[in-house]
Amino acid sequence: MKKLLTVIGTRPQFIKYAAISTRLRRNFREILVDTGQHYSKKMSSDFIKELNIPHPDYTIGVSSENVVSQIAEMIKGLYPVIERHKPDILLCFGDTNSALAAALSGLKYDIPVVHIEAGERNYDKNFKRVPAYTIPEEANRIAIDSFSAHLICSSRRAYKNLTEEKVTGSIFYSGDIMLDIYLKNFKEVLKRENVLNKYGLKSKQYYFVTIHRAINTDNMERMKAFYNVFKNLEKTVILPLHPRTLKKLRGFNLYNKFLTLKNLVLTEPVGYLDSLVLNYHAACVMTDSGGVIREAYFNGVPSVMLDDTSEWLDLYESNWSFIAGADEEAIMKKLEDLRVPDKKPDFFGDGKAGLKTVNYLKKC
Ligand code: UD1
Ligand code: UDP
Repeated sequence: MKKLLTVIGTRPQFIKYAAISTRLRRNFREILVDTGQHYSKKMSSDFIKELNIPHPDYTIGVSSENVVSQIAEMIKGLYPVIERHKPDILLCFGDTNSALAAALSGLKYDIPVVHIEAGERNYDKNFKRVPAYTIPEEANRIAIDSFSAHLICSSRRAYKNLTEEKVTGSIFYSGDIMLDIYLKNFKEVLKRENVLNKYGLKSKQYYFVTIHRAINTDNMERMKAFYNVFKNLEKTVILPLHPRTLKKLRGFNLYNKFLTLKNLVLTEPVGYLDSLVLNYHAACVMTDSGGVIREAYFNGVPSVMLDDTSEWLDLYESNWSFIAGADEEAIMKKLEDLRVPDKKPDFFGDGKAGLKTVNYLKKC
């Protein structure tokens, strides 16, 4: 059996890994490393428990205030693991700093890198690409894709992007593992309507909102714009706060202002199933999260992207989602005219992405 080094470290990576972990372990001798990028219980260990994923063999504790030290510490922490286990292949997910550090380690220690969710690229609402250096996640993705040996794509658009970029690794379209794990949990989501009671919500009578991208959290004017939007809404808004957002709101002296809004339910980050339930019953989802926006689509719920660009352009192009940024007027207008498109194409495959990916990797 080949030896596989899998690197995770953030909330979305715990979730993506859960979609594929059992299959990986059936076919590879896996060493699992958690970089520790996300370290709060509600952002990390709670997901390991809820999703029943194997306990990481190694957890590298990294600092999180300085991005350069964070990435350097991850690479430094991966080195002894690689030296000790000499893996045949290295697996990373998505576009986070953990994925970048993992891929760079693979590159420098001559281990072929497999990149899951390769090839996604950011576009603005006029379908124009944006400079990679302006979006940390876009820069990470492009760097990782440029030297990965195997590029596993969640969407056909990603496959096309990579083909056009003439990347040198092998490109494989699997579909989205986020859809696999969503489908696996869907029955349970339907059973959990009582989650709404916990927050005093009624199905389709509220908006589910998440905000954590730097473009929003690090900009007081944008956070004020979201406050104004919430203030003007008749429906309730539920906003589970990412620790980054909480910290920034406090720093801007906005947190107490948010607390005064009668129609706003502020919570800590919620678990995966609760997040799916809140998403499923929402009248509309508003988010800058790549995962949450896809889940809204899986649920057939229209969404608004609180971001100026998106890598999930299919959702924008098909009118399932709208790129509104932090433009108060654009957000309000969209919410007043919410429509659910008739067609729901299979942008993200058939829910068997994990199986296809592992079958592909077995042959590498
Ligand atoms: C990271 C990813 C982003 C992803 C998001 C998922 C990068 C560049 N960004 O953003 O692509 O969408 O994770 O949620 O990798 N913090 C805590 N506890 C935690 C985690 C973070 O308090 O468990 C606070 C810290 O103050 C930290 C800040 O949040 O400095 C930002 O965390 P970081 O991991 O650097 O980036 P995210 O914003 O979480
Ligand atoms: N999520 C969660 N609890 C929350 C908010 C989000 O479990 O309070 C889940 C969500 O359902 C999705 C994933 O986290 O599966 C998305 O991760 P995140 O928004 O942190 O990162 P992104 O997808 O933007 O990289």
